[in-house]
Amino acid sequence: MTATILILEDDAGTARLQQRRLERAGYRTEWTPQAQQAWLRLQQGGIDLLLLDQHFDHQPEDGLSFYSRLQAAGCNVPVILVTGRHDDSLIIRALRAGVRDYIFKSPEYLDYLPEAVQRVLEQVRLQKQLAESQARLAAIIETAFDAIITLDQQQRITTFNPAAERIFGIPAAQALGQPIRTFLPEGLVLEPMAAGRPQLLGEVEGRRRDGSRVPLEVSCAHAQRQGQVVCTLVLRDISERKQTLEQLRARTEELRQTTRQLWQAARLAGVGELAASIAHELNNPLGTISLRLEGILAKTPPSDPRRKPLEIIEAEIERMCRLVANLLQFSRPGNDQFSTVELTEEVEKTLDLFSHHLRKRRISVQTDFQADIPPISADRQQLRQVLLNLFSNAADAMPEGGQLTVRLRRGSLPEGQAAIVLEVSDTGIGIAPEHLPHVFDPFFTTKEEGKGTGLGLPICKRIIEQQHQGRISIESQPGQGTTVRILLPLLKA
Ligand SMILES: Nc1ncnc2c1ncn2[C@@H]1O[C@H](COP(=O)(O)OP(=O)(O)OP(=O)(O)O)[C@@H](O)[C@H]1O
Ligand SMILES: [Mg+2]
Repeated sequence: MTATILILEDDAGTARLQQRRLERAGYRTEWTPQAQQAWLRLQQGGIDLLLLDQHFDHQPEDGLSFYSRLQAAGCNVPVILVTGRHDDSLIIRALRAGVRDYIFKSPEYLDYLPEAVQRVLEQVRLQKQLAESQARLAAIIETAFDAIITLDQQQRITTFNPAAERIFGIPAAQALGQPIRTFLPEGLVLEPMAAGRPQLLGEVEGRRRDGSRVPLEVSCAHAQRQGQVVCTLVLRDISERKQTLEQLRARTEELRQTTRQLWQAARLAGVGELAASIAHELNNPLGTISLRLEGILAKTPPSDPRRKPLEIIEAEIERMCRLVANLLQFSRPGNDQFSTVELTEEVEKTLDLFSHHLRKRRISVQTDFQADIPPISADRQQLRQVLLNLFSNAADAMPEGGQLTVRLRRGSLPEGQAAIVLEVSDTGIGIAPEHLPHVFDPFFTTKEEGKGTGLGLPICKRIIEQQHQGRISIESQPGQGTTVRILLPLLKA
């Protein structure tokens, strides 16, 4: 686009010569002898350069003071000052004020004029371009989602954008000049590898001002600037991404567990009916077998070589009885038969049933019953099953022998209702902390195949909490033992 030059010159002849020369060089020109008119014309816009005469005849101000007035009014048109005579102090004042160039009206100055105009216009164009690209760059750095940090050769911070302020929790004013090691781990190598090519340095842990850590993904690039190597780091906060991944992993694990349980439950539901009827059918013959066996055992002295296999058979039959009872309970819930039950008596009886088994495993039994434990309303069969499951878990946990303690005392439910507290403690292997949250899940077992079905505790929970409105909880110290605590609401008076 053709540039337009405004000439403010009170001498018409000089102006005409200047116009002619500039137009020949391809510029558009406008001329006015009046400062006031030039002022108005400049306000209208569209002028690319002002060729300003310093000396006006019959006018109150000179060129330079007119220029100052323009600047004060916010007009920043580039100016070339034209003077009639050499005056060093004038030139210094003019350049200080921001005049781009000056020309003396020497005999050959007209030849030089288009050249000076072209140089000033080019200068202005380059300055504008530079300002624009600086503004663009600043906007990118200011609004970037990622932290952008530049470092000098000593790896001290020279740029710290708002995203960096946010990520590290420190204002730029405080971060500038600090070594980057304040914010990034010592081991991170920031030395240039291939000049100019950015490298992904991977995940690192950034340090916030408050000492907390933030996971970051870091890339870095090196560039030569005025003989110095400058390093630019781009850091992305990946906490959210990590959290989401973590959640996803947890969900996947949950899903895997649920799928496994569902699959097991579906399998069980399918065979449930059948299992229940078979279990039912097995119940009676099992009873007969164990009675007969008892009789045979009673007649077999300890020295008899048949004694050992008979005892093994006895233990296996006990296990079968419990399995059958669990299966029946699991597939046919809800047929409760409530009556008044003396808990002390039930515990004693069930321990009696189990005593042989316990003795064989060198497990001693201790009971600690508070006096006057009142009766409760409960399903006797179901309570026995709970006790049997707990005793059998305790016995399994003490393969080398130990002590089983059963306690009964008065207490209350978390809601305040009076209750009986029943505790079954063992001195066995205990439960690993990572297993503890799962012990009430159906089919959760740590026992080897064929030894545990993982139904004991879930059944206890259902019997206690759903059928009897009580509570069951478990505490364990690995290597020291386990206590199962049951709260059963008292009979309402
Ligand atoms: N007293 C205990 N000491 C140590 N671990 C126990 C104890 N009671 C339960 N557990 C742990 O909890 C798991 C689940 O117990 P649960 O009684 O539900 O199933 P199981 O004993 O494995 O099988 P099942 O009772 O069906 O024969 C056990 O496999 C065991 O890891
Ligand atoms: Mg069990």
